[in-house]
Amino acid sequence: MNKKQKPALEFRDVTYAYADTDAPIFEQVQAVVEKGEFVSLLGPSGSGKSTFFRLAAGLSNPVNGSVHLHGSDSGIRLGRVGYMPQQDMLLPWRTILENGMLPLEINGLSKKEAGKRVSAHLEAFGLGGLEHKYPHELSGGMKQRVSFLRAVVGGNDILMLDEPFSALDSITRFMMQEWLLEKWQASRQTLIFITHDIEEALFLSDRILLFTEPPIKGPLTEITVPLPRPRDEGARDHPELLKLKRELIERMRREERLR
Ligand SMILES: Nc1ncnc2c1ncn2[C@@H]1O[C@H](COP(=O)(O)OP(=O)(O)OP(=O)(O)O)[C@@H](O)[C@H]1O
Ligand SMILES: [Mg+2]
Repeated sequence: MNKKQKPALEFRDVTYAYADTDAPIFEQVQAVVEKGEFVSLLGPSGSGKSTFFRLAAGLSNPVNGSVHLHGSDSGIRLGRVGYMPQQDMLLPWRTILENGMLPLEINGLSKKEAGKRVSAHLEAFGLGGLEHKYPHELSGGMKQRVSFLRAVVGGNDILMLDEPFSALDSITRFMMQEWLLEKWQASRQTLIFITHDIEEALFLSDRILLFTEPPIKGPLTEITVPLPRPRDEGARDHPELLKLKRELIERMRREERLR
């Protein structure tokens, strides 16, 4: 990786607290994601992973410090990243196709062109034949895939996915992980991925950023996954990955005990 390139995402001493609480969740947090990297954020419920995403996407702003996309902290971040929120946020009055078209329309594409682009992805996301249904007619896993598709079709070079596979059964989940890896390996997008699942984080990522109970202070703890690329499903049983999994569990337990 060319380290001279500006990082895709950088948190510089970011402090953040929700308005209705005194205690900050982040205190001078530092984190870097290089261009083209696959980085997972791993940590327990309530540790601030989705908050980190909202700051990165520009849905919230730091109280202190700054968030940089491609080296710049000026301008609007929203619209410069493909963002799949944890809750699907589909518009109930729009069909699946129309929901998928939304970010493209916002970016100025005609309805016709937006419709064409989304239609081209429906099969790959397991949504073929569902384009004229409404969100309330879909299962949780299907809605998650619509939301995932919507983040992908925008074509931004940073893609942020907040627990995209949490509502899927394990076989579909494995298939979507492998599909995502293939797609990422071909596109070289920067991918930032939230999960609770240690194995998922290890199988997919170049690096894992560990989140612990807030407040989180200073540089995020990071773990490098030294498995070669490209990876396929065989990598799941790689001895190095199993060893890292044991270490990671031990480390997360230790961090919990230290609190
Ligand atoms: N809108 C809000 N107002 C006040 N506090 C909030 C708000 N959203 C989240 N929090 C608090 O901030 C902390 C971090 O929440 P966040 O949603 O970032 O965690 P998370 O790591 O994504 O958890 P999960 O894995 O359950 O999705 C939690 O203590 C939560 O209660
Ligand atoms: Mg979350």
